[in-house]
Amino acid sequence: MEKPKLLISREQIAKRITEMAKQITTDSAGERVLFVGVLKGAAVFLTDLVRQVDLDASFDFIGVSSYGNPPGPKQEKVWDSTGEVRLTKDVDESLRGKNVILVEDILDTGLTLAFLKRLLLGHQPKSLRIAVLLDKTARRKLTVEADYVGFKIPDEFVVGYGLDYAEQYRNLPDICTLSNVSSPA
Ligand code: IMP
Ligand code: MG
Repeated sequence: MEKPKLLISREQIAKRITEMAKQITTDSAGERVLFVGVLKGAAVFLTDLVRQVDLDASFDFIGVSSYGNPPGPKQEKVWDSTGEVRLTKDVDESLRGKNVILVEDILDTGLTLAFLKRLLLGHQPKSLRIAVLLDKTARRKLTVEADYVGFKIPDEFVVGYGLDYAEQYRNLPDICTLSNVSSPA
């Protein structure tokens, strides 16, 4: 198994999450907020984030899967911008009339968040915002803006702090790069 190379340390992550939580607390002062994390990658980020948000808050999870192969080495086209995303687990509670913050690990092509945004807006929340820990701006195919971004990162395949390669490395405390894995085309 390749040894991952450090990109963002646990200390940098913790510091940035504290700043993001303060911003969310300020922006949503006096409101109830429902955080919806995208399984499985965002689970680690969500649990660290919500514990620093000083608001009346609750959280839930949603699951999606992309058709085609997962990101990996020497793979040709993995997915395109036509919307090959499907829901594998819906939220447990109604979003209607609620202030929802969708929490995702990484914004890459934008396909996943564009799909989820459309889906969640259909539930008629009072407001919908997006928080992502990482943003690979160079690879965007669909226009999706996150309201809260932890770090903008270069076009490299990252693992750790919830992010995986073939279900491995999710438990690494830091965000690292895997050099022999290329992002999907
Ligand atoms: P998008 O739909 O292309 O924006 O991709 C979002 C999803 O792709 C994320 O939720 C991740 O599951 C996965 N992904 C994209 N880039 C990476 C990466 O560098 N490491 C691990 N997973 C990634
Ligand atoms: Mg994911």
